[in-house]
Amino acid sequence: MSRLKCAARPDTMLRIPVENGMDFRLSDDHLMIQSAARDFAQAEIAPVAHDFDASGQFPSDNIRKAGELGFMGVEVPEEYGGSGLDTLSFVVMLEEIAVADAAHSTIVSVNNSLYCNGILQFGTEAQKQAFVRPIASGAAIGCYGLTEPQSGSDAGNMRTRAALSKDGSHYLVNGKKSWITSGPVADKMLLFATVDPAKGPKGVTAFLVDTRLPGYVRGKTEPKLGIRASATCEVEFADYRLPVENRLGREGQGFEIAMTVLDAGRIGIATQAVGIARAAYEASIAYVRERKAFGSAIGSFQMIQAKIADMKCRIDASRLLAMRAAWNKAEARKAGVRNTTEASVAKLFCSETAMYCAHQALQIHGGMGYSKEMPLERYFRDAKITEIYEGTSEIQRLVIARQETGLR
Ligand code: CAA
Repeated sequence: MSRLKCAARPDTMLRIPVENGMDFRLSDDHLMIQSAARDFAQAEIAPVAHDFDASGQFPSDNIRKAGELGFMGVEVPEEYGGSGLDTLSFVVMLEEIAVADAAHSTIVSVNNSLYCNGILQFGTEAQKQAFVRPIASGAAIGCYGLTEPQSGSDAGNMRTRAALSKDGSHYLVNGKKSWITSGPVADKMLLFATVDPAKGPKGVTAFLVDTRLPGYVRGKTEPKLGIRASATCEVEFADYRLPVENRLGREGQGFEIAMTVLDAGRIGIATQAVGIARAAYEASIAYVRERKAFGSAIGSFQMIQAKIADMKCRIDASRLLAMRAAWNKAEARKAGVRNTTEASVAKLFCSETAMYCAHQALQIHGGMGYSKEMPLERYFRDAKITEIYEGTSEIQRLVIARQETGLR
């Protein structure tokens, strides 16, 4: 908590009465990071979110400030440059960033959960010092290289090849990764490549890549529907030389690492979705109180009330699911079991809530919702990605059903 100097303030929104022996209250540490994130997001991000969306520029200054506040490595222990807090702290922080702007929250989420998490869990001491410390402190940015042009949902079907040299000192990497969040600006990448394509997922191996070295070639930044300020590109590996010490885990362990990391990352996307839904909902509450039709505030009409009530129920349920997944992450680790179901349930439900709320909020705003002068159309465009990246809603349903039935 060393860099989180902000005083705690009571927050009613997340304080839920204690029932049946369960305590839903956030601790003072959680309230402190939530409050610090809200102050930062409302002061620094919200005022510029529209302009960054319009230009598609990467918000470097704000990301540097987020690093200074300790938001880029929330769960990373202080000895590796992070804030040393828990996953619930990450979640309450990220929701506040996402309310202000989804694109910023994508950058923050990937850095924390997809990049730092896996290295902390599977890395050696030297790897943590070299590859986590600069990223968790916000001095540098991390990215995650799994997807390829021909393998999105079927992540095990990758072609990027890592060939071990005859003397065993290094791997030579060749191939293409696509849809790399923060790829255009990242300093380090957690890369997945196969040491033997014939082995399918069993050949997948994880590596730690310095993106400033020769052979890491950035493609053009993708023009996207939403989260436009989060830079995304294709990356080509052209005879990229990777020292053998930069392999994360064993040869063939990469698919397990990729999936374990996604179990953490999906909590971040679930939370981002809660933030987008909340932004759309809060805008709607203000609008239905103020906008008049047929002589009354539109919020007094039952069809509008139904939309407000349905949004509220889904947002509350979503937040609880995201928090359950966050809370259970450490519990599952302690028990030696996976947090897969909790993470996928949260990701699926929250992303569909974001899309639902953005849709309803735009409808409530009518023509104003369709205008670029209001943020509703941005929420609508931003919400869509939460149903696609870090595993589509279809993949989440497949994962949940497989976990529940034990069938494939
Ligand atoms: N944790 C640990 N191990 C896991 C695991 C998990 N959650 N899920 C699977 N595994 C293991 C399995 O136990 C299995 O090991 P064994 O063979 O030793 O039993 C191995 O991995 C293979 O598992 P499956 O047979 O289930 O693999 P599959 O080929 O059927 O695929 C899948 C499973 C769920 C479809 C998976 O490919 C998947 O999640 N696909 C979606 C990929 C995805 O989310 N991509 C997102 C890209 S990143 C991104 O979007 C970032 C961004 O921009 C922000």
